[in-house]
Amino acid sequence: MTTTPNFPAMPASSDPMPTVQAPRGLHVITWGCQMNVYDSARMADVLRPLGYGPVERPEDADMVILNTCHIRERATEKVFSELGRLRKIRDERIGNGQDRTIIAVAGCVAQAEGEVILSRAPYVDLVLGPQTYHKLPEMVARAARAGGAVIETDFPVEQKFDFLPTDAAPQTQGNLTAFLTIQEGCDKFCSFCVVPYTRGAETSRPVASVLAEARRMAESGVREITLLGQNVNAYHGDDGEGGSATLAGLVEQLAQIPGLGRIRYMTSHPRDVDQSLIDAHRDNPALMPFLHLPVQSGSDRILKAMNRGHTADEYRESVRKLREARPDLALSSDFIVGHPGETEEDFEATMQLVRDIGFAMAYSFKYSPRPGTPAAGQPMQVPEDVKDRRLAELQALLREQQDAFNADMVGTVQEILVTNRGRKPGQIAGRSPYLQPVHFDGPDHLIGSTVKVAITTRRTNSLGGTLIRETASAC
Ligand code: SAH
Ligand code: SF4
Ligand code: F3S
Repeated sequence: MTTTPNFPAMPASSDPMPTVQAPRGLHVITWGCQMNVYDSARMADVLRPLGYGPVERPEDADMVILNTCHIRERATEKVFSELGRLRKIRDERIGNGQDRTIIAVAGCVAQAEGEVILSRAPYVDLVLGPQTYHKLPEMVARAARAGGAVIETDFPVEQKFDFLPTDAAPQTQGNLTAFLTIQEGCDKFCSFCVVPYTRGAETSRPVASVLAEARRMAESGVREITLLGQNVNAYHGDDGEGGSATLAGLVEQLAQIPGLGRIRYMTSHPRDVDQSLIDAHRDNPALMPFLHLPVQSGSDRILKAMNRGHTADEYRESVRKLREARPDLALSSDFIVGHPGETEEDFEATMQLVRDIGFAMAYSFKYSPRPGTPAAGQPMQVPEDVKDRRLAELQALLREQQDAFNADMVGTVQEILVTNRGRKPGQIAGRSPYLQPVHFDGPDHLIGSTVKVAITTRRTNSLGGTLIRETASAC
């Protein structure tokens, strides 16, 4: 529903677009997943023609956007507490004779709780869901004219991507790595998850639109791109020839863009790992050998209760095939402990799956009941202290595996995309195919290139190495 409190409804198209104005400060606070990171950058892009440019502190901003996440507990409370802080900053600015800061709440809490936000925090000017950020300029104009709050939480028929500025990719200027959303929303309705309600139905961007944005990114210097989607491997974008492309097909086309040497994708769903994607990992060297494949649980009973649509053995089998296709492939995953009905035996099955697979990295969470999701209303909720214990046990095992994976890097040669200067003089730094930060001595001109580095040391959160060849590759 789209409502415009304190302002008569009017068709969006009749709103005159604001013209370029004096420079204004924009401060964006981003919580949640990479998709929110991408959306925040695009919101900054669509506001640029209005004169908004990034500022580091909300105190210096004429507009603050709080881009929110609703995935786990206390999401809404966290938003209200941050809004209270922003309101104080605004009041101080007004007291100092500065312009009144526009406060906007975007993202998944805005989508789920838009009306609640406006009634509990009436000082908020704009509330917009994740599918409507392209309407921001028009909303700013409407709020300015109406002097009241404006809310947009529709799932509009037009795609927000069609409204992105096409002249450049200004937010990625100077960046060597970038996110690119290719698929949005989710139709899978896992028992525990709010995403289908906050992001709407699953839709894929047309291939031509993705390629155009990727080209702009590459032209602005991006060398490594991470394709984003809640179920990115369910991608089925219009191929412009009356059919639809798979993720593997899209990756193949992206890999031909000059400069784009590295491609990643996330988050994939185990149900959508098909043979074409497995083959792409074997055949396409641009596809990085590091895959985030959330499994959530190792118990078939719980996977069923979660509505994940696969068994633990089917997950094992997909991983086996992927590793056969790309032997240096490493995996990361997401886990939830304490889903309603999870017994000790179910939890042990998760621990066993972790031992069987061996993860390079993982995120693990205590199950958190989300309003409106099926699992939240189920009986047999697991007590908090049991969740705490299971989480601690699981995390200890995952940490052990992560440490072992990093330790095993010592003595290997890795291709490092050099992204910046290191902390010490003469040092440069970059990321390995497995997203590990790597520091080594080398000249600044290598920033932006991919070089071979012999890994010699492991520190707590990074690796150290020696440059063994100044690979002339620009990507
Ligand atoms: N689309 C992805 C996940 C997106 S949400 C997938 O299907 O795997 C990111 C992660 O948050 C999930 O993988 C899950 O581990 C965690 N998560 C989601 N809802 C949760 C909840 N209600 N409680 C605890 N963790 C949750
Ligand atoms: Fe949420 Fe499941 Fe969709 Fe992932 S697949 S976004 S966990 S509903
Ligand atoms: Fe959070 Fe929404 Fe992403 S709920 S995880 S910001 S899709």
